[in-house]
Amino acid sequence: MPRLESSTSRRYIPVSEPHGEFLKSMPLAMTTNPTPASVKDRLIVALDEPDRDSALRLVERLSGTVGMFKIGSQLFTAEGPELVRQIISSGERVFLDLKFHDIPNTVAGAVESAAKLGVSILNVHTLGGSEMMRAAAHAVGDRGLLWITRPAVLGVTVLTSMDKADLADVGITSDLSAEVVRLAALARDSGLDGIVASPHEIRLIRECITAERFIILTPGIRPAWSDKADQKRIATPAAAIRDGADYLVIGRAITDSPDPRAAAERILEEIG
Ligand code: C5P
Repeated sequence: MPRLESSTSRRYIPVSEPHGEFLKSMPLAMTTNPTPASVKDRLIVALDEPDRDSALRLVERLSGTVGMFKIGSQLFTAEGPELVRQIISSGERVFLDLKFHDIPNTVAGAVESAAKLGVSILNVHTLGGSEMMRAAAHAVGDRGLLWITRPAVLGVTVLTSMDKADLADVGITSDLSAEVVRLAALARDSGLDGIVASPHEIRLIRECITAERFIILTPGIRPAWSDKADQKRIATPAAAIRDGADYLVIGRAITDSPDPRAAAERILEEIG
């Protein structure tokens, strides 16, 4: 697998800067999006924290043990882009989990803003449609800007909190798995780098989508020794990796542990 560049080497250079024109002439193939290069890289810890101090405490405790930190709408709404910049400038990678869903032009702008922050992964809702996803992919790939490392753009298929009845309420009557695969294929055809899916769908998606590089990132992971909490459609870390997940997003099994670092190391041993 290609090596993942260190986040400290990631740089955004607008073409308007002195080196911009030179850099613009360089092939886009120089850009990369993250592919896990080691077991540690596969582990993303959800910073579902209310504020900067508690988030930074966790980052400090887990630094060097995990591959990335996920910042979602709770923390981002409380602390904004400055916290994202701070975590990245400390040498860590960030998955910005804001699930953009809007008209294509607005999503393209949001994706570009997220990419400028230097995040490694960001996401959009596949239900925003093909044109919106194309705009998101285009925003990181080809807007006269050069990303030394461009973020991976993933599509959220069906939220794991939704079941068949919830889908029917919003007018989707097809089988849930079929719907997930359909949306995953649409994401691929629209130029996204991969999808977010529950562990229960990984195997089916891998069977149906055979693109060489199609990232599957999965939450809903519970080690056998941890509390299930409110997650329903769960799998152990080892099972999710065995089924074909590239990245695991894990929150409470690590962050609620009395020793988060030891919990992360135990998970790495399980998937190693
Ligand atoms: O604590 P836990 O491991 O359940 O945290 C999982 C993380 O993944 C949370 O940040 C949650 O918001 C996120 N997530 C999820 N299910 C989805 C999408 C995201 O659990 N379908």
